Amino acid sequence: MTDNEDLIWLTTTVAARLQDRIDHFHRDRVAGEWGNRHILHGRGPGPDSVRVHSNDYLALSGHPRIAAAMAEALTGRSRIASGAFLHGEHSQLRLEHALAEYLRAPGGVLCQSGWDANTGLLQSISDPATPVYIDYIAHMSLWHGARLAGSPIHPYRHNSPSHLREQIWRHGPGVIVADSIYSTNGSRCPLAALCEIAEDTGCLLVVDESHSLGIDGPAGSGMVVEQGLVERVHFRTASLSKAFAGRAGFVTAGSPEFVDYFKMESYPAVFSSTLLPHDIAGLATTLDVIRDSDQRRHRLREVSATIRTALRELGFDLEDSDSHIVPVLTGPDSHAIAIRDFLEERGVFGSPFCPPATSHHRTLIRLSLHAALTDIQVDRIIQACTDIRDTFGAVPHTLRQQVGPVPATTAP
Ligand SMILES: Cc1ncc(COP(=O)(O)O)c(C=O)c1O
Repeated sequence: MTDNEDLIWLTTTVAARLQDRIDHFHRDRVAGEWGNRHILHGRGPGPDSVRVHSNDYLALSGHPRIAAAMAEALTGRSRIASGAFLHGEHSQLRLEHALAEYLRAPGGVLCQSGWDANTGLLQSISDPATPVYIDYIAHMSLWHGARLAGSPIHPYRHNSPSHLREQIWRHGPGVIVADSIYSTNGSRCPLAALCEIAEDTGCLLVVDESHSLGIDGPAGSGMVVEQGLVERVHFRTASLSKAFAGRAGFVTAGSPEFVDYFKMESYPAVFSSTLLPHDIAGLATTLDVIRDSDQRRHRLREVSATIRTALRELGFDLEDSDSHIVPVLTGPDSHAIAIRDFLEERGVFGSPFCPPATSHHRTLIRLSLHAALTDIQVDRIIQACTDIRDTFGAVPHTLRQQVGPVPATTAP
């Protein structure tokens, strides 16, 4: 073979391999498991639909004060560049201080997304000599950050401090990673137990508060603050695209030195443009609104408790959901599409979560509850789930056959 033929062979093979993957997606998933319908694309909701498919838990999107602040900031000129350049008196730095104060942390950094916060943090604090211990269903961005750091990754069983301890005994001190509330099944992390393990073993502890920030704790400052663990958790991260209903992420820092280090070390901070002035203006006003949103938080807790109790009484296995995230387990994707359609016919719109966000045959419909749900809408959700139970059964057939407490999701 000439060099040129070699090259053609090589590129054809790579292209063919890619084509095979694309074909696999369309043939085996779309046409096969999904019957030529996209699992994530059901019908569109109408004006009377009950929408429980958004992470806007406090129902703040479209809030007039936030919208006005964003609109005003849109007319100014901005420097489109990496956030590492920002210094002096800048609205983004002021917001970083305000968010750090809200979270009772010595410092913090705004990132373009929760994904960037998590990948950038893990990449900045870990390395190939440092093992990362990660809850099996922690968010994919945390797994990805550990991979970027080149760290050996040792998952521990979901919410199992004893398994975490075993793993650390086996592999040595490293970075422990957990979500405060897990995004697929709504379970809460045993934070105090993880703090104790981190202290006993000399590990760093990272907690992703994406689904608790704005909701738990005084003025919504999160689960770590609520449980008095601020001094014991080394880093907290959060997506601001959940209760904050914006488009950004945040990382707390134990010292101002870490802030400067992170801004030069985290690749998303250095190599990707930062947030825009209207994002910052919107988030700064959202912070004010959220601090003042005790009524919304109360309502969210009330509707969540009502729906969880009713679904459990109907026989649904909500795993350990103890929050506004309520999973309806469906088993394989094909069953999830049937349940999705069934719910949508009754005007209830949740979000299907399927691989790669869940493990194979552990698809679920996630009900993301929010503070604006009325009592009538709560009843409609419960009635729709009663109809599911009466038509399909509360526990999908494939899950009934499985033995043991397999979690609904596995992140990687
Ligand atoms: C726990 C958790 N962390 C991080 C993220 C990523 O956040 P973002 O959408 O802001 O990138 C998400 C969102 O899916 C999440 O649920």
